[in-house]
Formats: sequence, structure tokens, C-alpha cells
Amino acid sequence: MEISNLNHSGSRSYKIAVLGLGHVGLPTAVGFSSLGWDVIGADEDSSKVDLIKAGKAPFFEPGLDDLLHRSLASGRFQATSGVTRAIRAATVVFICVGTPQREDGAADLSQIEAISRTIGRNLNGYKLVVEKSTVPAITALWIQRTIERYSSLKASEARGNGNGGDAPAGPEAVEADFDVASNPEFLQEGQALENFFRPCRIVIGADSERARTILRDLYSGLQRPMVVADVTTAELIKHAANAFLSTKISFINMVADICDAVGADVTRVAEGLGLDPRISPGFLQAGIGFGGYCFPKDLRALAHLAEQHGVDCSLLRAVERINTQRVGAFLDKVRNSVWVISGKTLGVLGLAFKPNTDDIREAPSLRILEALLKEGANLRLHDPWTMPAARTLYPPEAGRITYCESPYEAARGAEALLLLTEWNEYKNLDLGRLRDQMQVPVLIDGRNFFAPEQVREAGFSYAGLGRRGGGPYAQEMAVPGQFRSATPSRSGMGVDLNA
Ligand code: UGA
Repeated sequence: MEISNLNHSGSRSYKIAVLGLGHVGLPTAVGFSSLGWDVIGADEDSSKVDLIKAGKAPFFEPGLDDLLHRSLASGRFQATSGVTRAIRAATVVFICVGTPQREDGAADLSQIEAISRTIGRNLNGYKLVVEKSTVPAITALWIQRTIERYSSLKASEARGNGNGGDAPAGPEAVEADFDVASNPEFLQEGQALENFFRPCRIVIGADSERARTILRDLYSGLQRPMVVADVTTAELIKHAANAFLSTKISFINMVADICDAVGADVTRVAEGLGLDPRISPGFLQAGIGFGGYCFPKDLRALAHLAEQHGVDCSLLRAVERINTQRVGAFLDKVRNSVWVISGKTLGVLGLAFKPNTDDIREAPSLRILEALLKEGANLRLHDPWTMPAARTLYPPEAGRITYCESPYEAARGAEALLLLTEWNEYKNLDLGRLRDQMQVPVLIDGRNFFAPEQVREAGFSYAGLGRRGGGPYAQEMAVPGQFRSATPSRSGMGVDLNA
């Protein structure tokens, strides 16, 4: 994509502040600067800011370092740890701070609240404050209230204290001229820039014409479909989108279990479903379940919001439950294949919660590692990007936890190889070479990534999830239809070998 062609065409010009330079904020900041806007990105973490200033993204995102370099060189993007300075310099302020999860499943909005207070205390003329972080519906109302409260507090401090502290002088202290809008992000890690420059849709949630006009201007260079709604509706679109995609994944995972039980192939079922445009093919890949910083917590936050308002959200709870059970289901596959886990050497390919990211937050792989270690397995781990992060959680231990330079090294001496992330670089592995490294050539595919025939031809026993048969031995013994009366394994997956 030729980014230089995407410059905004409007004559109005706004300075943009992006507060929070994480997975959402940094792509958003350099994205807007590539569209020709003047952007100041702020983050309190000065070590992160130093990296960014040096042209290095603090996390892996394809193409981001390159775009960051170009944005810095153009002079249209600068990074600072001076959050206040950024707010005061800008007309449009994007809130991109984290919204982690509280213990009760609700979203922890303390960072949003803190930044709203800072904005309130630094209103120096009209500002459009835009929520980009994923937040539950009606958060914008709280942002609005907080900015109002702290800007008037500031004004009274300025009057009472004879303009003491850092209070701005004169009328700017009493003017609380601002709008709060919602412009949720739909960026996927690993394809954040593609998503920024070619979004399926841009959602603008604003309750004033002035706010709508500014947001339309900001995106005028992209020419993509726009959904314009009120602020609360826009907030809900984001949460509903993530919950719907999670539902699709849990649905296909449930179908995978049924496939295992009756001897059908879930990848073909997904193909047959996805060709119907009312269903569409995306997010129908069965596997070990969804992870990452967004789906699990957003699903819980939406369920929590529904419950708070007395709305039946058992559907969302079922989606969550199915997802949680995927790890147990996969472990059953491993047991079906290797029998006793204790003392076994297992190679693991992939730790990231999905490919093209160095993120392991809420990755299903972590719960799988945890369980395997608890059962006494010796693990040989490989991932192209996440091994530094994994090492801090699971430090190497001689003979028990080994980090490997290549997939072939991970396979060395293994009694089964487990694929947990479908990295592209695993696609063209030399299967013969991989097999030759192993004590016992068993491949258990947690993402239905490999072609079973090809793997079997290379001399492996293969087990996927919902791909005809419950494990390599069950697979070899499988006769479709025979399993209908069979006792399902603990998780409902796979085949009871005693049946
Ligand atoms: C998700 C949404 O896709 C973005 O639109 C949204 O902006 C983002 O959350 C967010 O709220 O910030 P992301 O978490 O980066 O993006 O990752 P996805 O590509 O959606 O994948 C999430 C999880 O679902 C991964 O663990 C992936 O392996 C799993 N998945 C995905 C499946 O198990 N099957 C599928 O068919 C698709």
C-alpha cells in the first residue's frame, strides 16, 4: 500500500495527541501522521518513549518500525513522556490507555479515569476527546463528567489561589469547551497497519455535529465505509464485535468436538459454512481457543455489563466456558496420543496467542505449558518471537524447560510435537527432517494447521481437533459411526480408546 497517497484532503487542520503508545496507540499515532496530520504521542513510560524516539516500536508489529521511522523523519510525529504537554498542544485527544480486567471480570477503567482528570485540568481551549481504547458502554459519560468536574475544580483553584500551582490564567481556566466521542479501534495485532489504512469500517460515535465533522475530517484520506452513531452505540459496537467473533470461534470449537465424536472433519464443515455470505469464512478456525489481551477480557466485560443491567447473557458465558475448556480438550488429545505425560519429552511449536505478534498475554499456550509441567513433562519450546517473554514466566530448567533456536531443535528427542501457534514459518518445515529428530513421530496440531495426509505421508501419527478421530491411535482405528455410542473422553473430545 502506498501510504503517501493517502493524505487528508480537507483544508482544516487539527493537532492530534495520542495518549498511550501501546498496541493501539502507536499504530494509530503513526497512522494519522502518515495521513498528513500533526501528531504528538505521549506515554508516561519514558523508556518506551525513548525507544520510540529512536525509531523502534516497543513490541513487534509487521511494518511498524518502518512507518515509525518515516513518521519521525517527516516531522509530523513526535513522542513524549509529557502527557500534559501533549494534551495542551492538541485539539483532538485520543485516549489509548489500557483497560485491563478487574477480578470480578469488569473492565478496570482507572487509567481512563486518571487520564480524564488530567485532560480536565489541562483544558486550554476546545478539545475533542476521543475514546479509542475498548471500554464498556457509557464510559464516555463518565469521561465527560470527570473532565467537567476537574476543569471546574481547576478554575476554582485558579480563582481561590490567585492562580497558584500549574493553573492556567484567565478565561481558559473557566472554559470547559470540549466534546467526548467514541471511535473504537478494530486493529488486530499482527495486521494493525493494514487495519488502520484499510479498515472494514470506521465507527464514529459523537453527540455533536462539531465532533462528527472533526472525526470525518481526520479519516477523509481513507475513503472507507463509515458508521455514524451516538457515543454509547459506538462503544457497544466494539464490544459486540469482539463478543460476536469470540462466539464464532467457540461455536466452531463446539462443532469440532462433535466432529471428533462422529468422525467428521471440522475444516470442511467450516468451509461449507463460510461460503454462505450470511456466515462468512472468518473466525471459523477450530483449535485451542482464543486468547490475547482483547477477546477474553472484552467478553467478560460485556457479560458483566449485561448482568449489571439484568440482561440474560448466558450465551456469552457459554462462549467463555467453551473457550476455557479448549485447553483440557487439547490435553486429552495429548494423553490419547502419548498416554502418560509424566517424564515424556514434548516439543512445542508456537507460544504466541496468535501468529505475527510477540504477545503471549492470555495465550492458551501458557495454560497448556502450565498443565504439562504440572504433569511432569519435559518441554522443548520454540517460537519465532515470544521466547524472551516466555523465559521470564518459565525460566529455563535443565532437562525440564529448554528454549530452542529452531523447530528442529524443539523436535529433538521428543515423543510428541505440539503445534500451538500457526506461524507461517512452520508451514514449510521439512517434515522428514523433523521426524528424524524425534524419538516418536507424533504431531498434535492445536490449530489444525497442517494437512493431515502430508504429515502422515512423512511418517507421523497426526491428531488435529475435530479432524476425524480422537488421536493418532484412535484415528488409525477409527470407523465413522462407530463412535456414536462411544463414551466421550473427559472433555467430550476425542474417542475413548476403551469403547
Ligand atoms: C481482536 C479483534 O479481532 C480486533 O478487531 C480488535 O480490535 C482487537 O481484538 C481489540 O479489541 O483490540 P486480536 O486480539 O489482535 O484482535 O486478535 P484476533 O486476530 O482477533 O485473534 C484473537 C484470538 O482468537 C487468537 O488467540 C486467535 O488464535 C483466535 N482465533 C482467531 C481462533 O482461535 N480462531 C479463529 O478462527 C480466529
